[in-house]
Amino acid sequence: MISPIEGFSKLTKEEKIDWIAKHYTVDVATTKRVLKTYWNTDSKLQKLHDEFIENTLTNYYLPFAIAPNFLINNKLYAIPMVIEESSVVAAASKAAKFWLNRGGFKTTILGTEKVGQVHFMYKGNQEKLRLFFDEIKPKLISSAILLTKNMEKRGGGISNIALRNKTADLKNYYQLHCTFETMDAMGANFINSCLEQFAKCLKSEAKNSTLLSDPEIEIVMSILSNYVPNCLVKAEVSCPVEELNEDASFSSDVFARKMVQAVEIAKVEPYRAVTHNKGIMNGVDAVVLATGNDFRAIEAGVHAYASKNGNYTSLTDAKIENGMFTFWIEIPLALGTIGGLTSLHPLVKVALEILQKPSAEELMQLVAVAGLAQNFAAIRSLVTTGIQQGHMKMHLLNMLNQMGATEEEKKKLVHHFKEHTVTHALVNEAFQKLRSN
Ligand code: MEV
Repeated sequence: MISPIEGFSKLTKEEKIDWIAKHYTVDVATTKRVLKTYWNTDSKLQKLHDEFIENTLTNYYLPFAIAPNFLINNKLYAIPMVIEESSVVAAASKAAKFWLNRGGFKTTILGTEKVGQVHFMYKGNQEKLRLFFDEIKPKLISSAILLTKNMEKRGGGISNIALRNKTADLKNYYQLHCTFETMDAMGANFINSCLEQFAKCLKSEAKNSTLLSDPEIEIVMSILSNYVPNCLVKAEVSCPVEELNEDASFSSDVFARKMVQAVEIAKVEPYRAVTHNKGIMNGVDAVVLATGNDFRAIEAGVHAYASKNGNYTSLTDAKIENGMFTFWIEIPLALGTIGGLTSLHPLVKVALEILQKPSAEELMQLVAVAGLAQNFAAIRSLVTTGIQQGHMKMHLLNMLNQMGATEEEKKKLVHHFKEHTVTHALVNEAFQKLRSN
């Protein structure tokens, strides 16, 4: 039996690897070799990565790719994507090319408001608490002046603090619901620091207050919210229905109708909506990761937004009106292009440079477009050829690599499967046949 280890974090990297390989893996030498294979030979770069998190053993690679030809608000972009799933980048590129000749993508920022809350308990008189809050609100804001000074210089800061009475949901529960503008920063540290300051100020003002009969305010926690329904961006594509005529086996009318039907299904059917939105997140997460943003925050916020009316539903919408097909997305995205990993990770810097050093607002628009493009590509395949054809073709290389095919063999088999259905069994059969010739 393996016993717990004391002081693992204090071991050197080599010692950590030795320990984990010895205690948790069978082939110790192979584990150690594989882990070390991924070390970077540039020791400075390696150290940088080691220090991003704790207990680092090695690096975990994901492909960094480019989907070119995105025409967004009449400007051409090549979008960096970091993702492991075959066919996502190909699908994005295909959708970009499709819309390149049809006016491209149009985007609008609908809001940039970030949110944070101080959660607290109060047993006393509700009306007196409200009067007390009205009185101290300016003090709460000014108490954070040292934190907000720089943000204000950049045009951001605290937008509002509201007292919310949540006692109908939970006994004695109130919150300071705070909104912020954080400009090009995602703003998590700024917001959390402000909130902790508000909490401190609230507590001390309550103690000194003559208004509150029971001055005891119990702060439970202060934290930003990743639900940002007013940090919202819209991306859209539109063209005459007759221009949707890429696939000879479908008339553009039928194609447009089926696209709209597919979206309508995702709007009413949560089982479909989750997969539909997962496809959107293939594009969103890939760009969010490439640009060093927090994809867990984005995921959590986006899915909460997809359920904002009580039912989980599609993030995209589509319509046919006066012969025009329009397809759009509205998605909350709290992103940053300064701070965090954006100035630390060399690949993130390159990604942002490729994107022409976007502001946070511009990045919101690019990410929304990546999500919309991905959804368009997925539904387009689903309502025409089915998803497996393209997916398995892309997966072919993974299978061939797993089987140990040489470059020459891969070339021959990729050529062969241009005309044949790809399944694991058929690929294996063709591979064995080629080897035995
Ligand atoms: C696969 O990663 C994503 C899709 O399932 C999305 C969809 O069904 O819309 C293809």
